[in-house]
Amino acid sequence: MEIKILKSYKELSSTVADIVETQIKEHPLTKLGLPTGSTPFGMYEEIVNRKLDWSLVITFNLDVYLMNVNHPESYQNYMRKNLFDRTNIFPDHSHFPFRPFSAFEDKIEGSMGIDLCILGIGTNGHIAFNEPGSSFKTRTRVVNLSEQTIEDNSRFFGSVDDTPKQAITMGLETIMESKKIVLMANGDHKLNILNMAMNGEVTEDVPASVLQNHDNVEVFYCD
Ligand code: F6R
Repeated sequence: MEIKILKSYKELSSTVADIVETQIKEHPLTKLGLPTGSTPFGMYEEIVNRKLDWSLVITFNLDVYLMNVNHPESYQNYMRKNLFDRTNIFPDHSHFPFRPFSAFEDKIEGSMGIDLCILGIGTNGHIAFNEPGSSFKTRTRVVNLSEQTIEDNSRFFGSVDDTPKQAITMGLETIMESKKIVLMANGDHKLNILNMAMNGEVTEDVPASVLQNHDNVEVFYCD
């Protein structure tokens, strides 16, 4: 698979923002799958500054930590701060994985599926929080985060002890049902796993490698 190399984080952010903008302008009733984490910060900033009309857009976040939703680092807070409170999206139109998980899945299916799903990638090759070893057939569920992910995410929580150990994540099969997928990655430390995922063996040991089985994926990287 082609990995499009961009010159800077700014270019990575604006390139993915362009794709989101085009999608929303051409299809105001768009359903988006959305990531959190450090990679999409710049993309959300770009998107907000473009003052798009979000009134008909529906969003599904990929994952949430199993933790108090009022914690400053909850993904619900992240999304409010970085996107929702800064656009005219209707509160009822933004969804985070919820129980029963079959109802969350039904909500996606009932809205005719995700049109555009934006992904980041973990240093161990996870997408959403589908950790290495996750079956390609997985759907929304509770997962234990890997030691690597807990260590990586501890930068947001100050210590490994304070970092959530579990999450609810969309499954790999759920993500793969999206009509279009864009994966964004930044930093040298992601390059090796990105290459393995896009051009190595398709294996459950590298969850992002499942994307090789999708026919509408774009992958962007900057160092
Ligand atoms: C978070 C998510 C994760 C992150 C991944 C990379 O919603 O889906 O898969 O995309 O952990 O995180 P960052 O961008 O912080 O390196």
